[in-house]
Amino acid sequence: LETKRRMPVIWRNFQECTCCTESFIRTQHPKASDIIMTMISLDYHETLMVAAGHQAEEAVAKAIEDNRGNYILAVEGAIPVKDGGIYCCIAGRTAVDMLKEEAKHAKAIIAWGSCAVNGCVQAANPNPTGAVPVQDIIKDKPIINVPGCPAIAEVMAGVITHVLTFERLPELDSQGRPKAFYGHRIHDKCNRRAYFDAGMFVENFDDQGAKEGWCLYKLGCKGPNTYNSCSNLEWNGGLSYPIKSGHPCIGCSEFGFWDNTGGTSMY
Ligand code: SF4
Ligand code: SF4
Ligand code: F3S
Repeated sequence: LETKRRMPVIWRNFQECTCCTESFIRTQHPKASDIIMTMISLDYHETLMVAAGHQAEEAVAKAIEDNRGNYILAVEGAIPVKDGGIYCCIAGRTAVDMLKEEAKHAKAIIAWGSCAVNGCVQAANPNPTGAVPVQDIIKDKPIINVPGCPAIAEVMAGVITHVLTFERLPELDSQGRPKAFYGHRIHDKCNRRAYFDAGMFVENFDDQGAKEGWCLYKLGCKGPNTYNSCSNLEWNGGLSYPIKSGHPCIGCSEFGFWDNTGGTSMY
């Protein structure tokens, strides 16, 4: 990797909460600082870049001009298209216009998080801004979908490392997700799986089963239908993940999250 040219990356934050960025900067393997300082050339990122205002806009324009056909466009957030896209504007331009223009010259697109992959909470019924994911707008570029709300830090780092190391996209499934990270269900490697198999279920959050760490299926756990790496890689450098911490999986990486996976039903 040290001998390779740093890969130009333009990272856009559209209609989102920035927690996918927050997740990314906590990656431990490799560290986010190593990725940014030695592996990629992060030419635009609203949260992480030093430049602001006109300087920032000039930086992105130069990055596109200097790297036509060679940069990665990373998109965090959904894109509102209702009323001409006015519900997400940066520097006086709509997100949908920016996406179309910046995708045109990109080598590939990475859609970070469920907002960019499925629309997530922004697209939840009644979807007042007409929020849609990247793949609904861009049809002529390769897209790597990296869902999750947020996406797991080491998964994000792993996707970047793969593209940089092998100079090609990772193997994707039918939904455009890297198979290496979305090939198994949470349920398959869940630390509570033995209790599921034994029919030992938590009935409410403070019963004895909850204290003993039994299966959360009866509390609405979506682990049997959710493809992600949480039970394998875990979060915060392998420390824990929702189920291990006592909360059912709410299927945050699945198509249709928020409306279709019961994202709101726990609260
Ligand atoms: Fe935030 Fe979730 Fe969207 Fe990521 S996918 S930007 S965590 S709302
Ligand atoms: Fe499966 Fe969820 Fe039970 Fe884990 S807690 S075994 S993912 S149903
Ligand atoms: Fe999301 Fe379920 Fe993992 S809610 S963070 S996919 S355990």
